[in-house]
Amino acid sequence: MQVQIMDHPLIQHKVTLMRMKETGSKDFRELLEEITMLMGYEITRDLTLEDVAIETPITKMTGKQISGKKLGIVPVLRAGLGMVQGMLNLIPTAKVGHVGLYRDPETLKPVEYYCKLPDVEDRDFIIVDPMLATGGSASAAITLLKERGIKHIKLMCLVAAPAGIDVINTDHPDVKIFVAALDEKLDEHGYIVPGLGDAGDRIFGTK
Ligand code: URA
Repeated sequence: MQVQIMDHPLIQHKVTLMRMKETGSKDFRELLEEITMLMGYEITRDLTLEDVAIETPITKMTGKQISGKKLGIVPVLRAGLGMVQGMLNLIPTAKVGHVGLYRDPETLKPVEYYCKLPDVEDRDFIIVDPMLATGGSASAAITLLKERGIKHIKLMCLVAAPAGIDVINTDHPDVKIFVAALDEKLDEHGYIVPGLGDAGDRIFGTK
């Protein structure tokens, strides 16, 4: 199973708070943003740097800056929206695309209903979706991006089920998966166990 579990103590602590059923939407959203930043710090470790000539108040020096690498953040609607601001806090120049998918009630396959992406030329993409459950929508989102010519894609989730990881590893072995927690299983309704419930409902206060 190819997945990087980001189990820094701060992340584990915050995920536990998010799992608790008494945690309300405001705290849930804030925790998700904080965890996204902590994960994003590590996920962006391979960003390339270039030299830049600067002057401190004392002297001239050569500093480092992120080179012109273009990044795209793509939340899978709707719960993925909860991870956008955390990534933008780290990389304010990143462009944000959106992918919307629904599950066809007959075929049970994900169907695209919305896809708007920034220009894809020379841009690396990070797909964000808090819950990697069956893996169906994440896999479809990756396929959508690949169909538009995107080559470098990472998938960033908060909580995953083993089945979801397996689907992505099988369908898209080139896509690296980053999660904060790997849970036990899916229940008969496709919810992650123990999980945290419906992430979209908890972010937006719906039922
Ligand atoms: N989507 C969610 O929001 N929660 C789950 O447990 C599974 C899918």
